[in-house]
Amino acid sequence: MKILLLGKGGQVGWELQRSLASLGQLVALDWDSTDFCGDFSQPEALAEAVRRIAPQVIVNAAAHTAVDRAESEPDRAHLINATAPGVLAREAQALGAWLVHYSTDYVFDGSGSRPWREGDEPAPLNVYGRTKLDGERAIASGCDRHLIFRTSWVYAARGSNFAKTMLRLAGEREQLQVIDDQIGAPTGADLLADVTALAFCKPEGNWRVRDIQPVASSAFPAAARRPHNSRLDTAKLQEAFGLSLPPWQHGVDRMLAEIL
Ligand SMILES: NC(=O)c1ccc[n+]([C@@H]2O[C@H](COP(=O)([O-])OP(=O)(O)OC[C@H]3O[C@@H](n4cnc5c(N)ncnc54)[C@H](OP(=O)(O)O)[C@@H]3O)[C@@H](O)[C@H]2O)c1
Repeated sequence: MKILLLGKGGQVGWELQRSLASLGQLVALDWDSTDFCGDFSQPEALAEAVRRIAPQVIVNAAAHTAVDRAESEPDRAHLINATAPGVLAREAQALGAWLVHYSTDYVFDGSGSRPWREGDEPAPLNVYGRTKLDGERAIASGCDRHLIFRTSWVYAARGSNFAKTMLRLAGEREQLQVIDDQIGAPTGADLLADVTALAFCKPEGNWRVRDIQPVASSAFPAAARRPHNSRLDTAKLQEAFGLSLPPWQHGVDRMLAEIL
């Protein structure tokens, strides 16, 4: 089986390089790859690369994930998060290939308190969420054989994420202000990558007690509005693929043990 991985250098892409490696012949690209175009800002060159590689499975971990920056560059966010995935869907359909893609809880408005389900009505609050929703729709309508995994609050030892920002600030400050009105489940990039591989196998040192102050989101004004409730219901995923997902705390403990 030939697998094309796009966005290989991101948090999830990096872990996918590991989890997909034993499943077949893996061609992994990033936006600056030279052998083939992996740049989502050039959708037709990307399409040409897909045609030349002719994979049986395309896994797309590339995205415009800078949520606040997307507010000031909506066209670029749309190009990368919606137009290019739509082109991938077209090429996957022509090849009869599977297209695996990742989306986000940001397609929802974050209201209420129960975890969001697949069939709930999307209502994104910001440009990033809207472009990711457009990407989902382009894939769902353009490619019969697709899997879209919505995830939230992704962390990894590699890359930029909330957990690493907090660890850095904890090393610099005596007092931390942490937003306490957004609810979600931290999701390890390694778990996402393992679930992806499983899914298509079966279609103290520096520790000090700190003063942590819970604050409202409004204490950290940002360009993009964010959902309050980012929880996603994983029941359908677990049932469809016969998985038993661990409590989110397990992955966070592992990541902290690795990084500290
Ligand atoms: N991170 C989260 O909390 C979160 C939450 C929900 C859903 N998701 C979704 O999960 C997926 C993986 O996210 P992640 O956390 O792994 O994000 P990430 O670490 O930001 O990785 C995204 C990758 O896409 C690359 N990229 C950016 N512009 C590109 C372009 N024009 N062409 C090709 N590649 C480009 C980035 O390269 P550079 O780093 O060099 O720009 C990076 O390697 C995405 O679909 C994202 O929307 C993430």
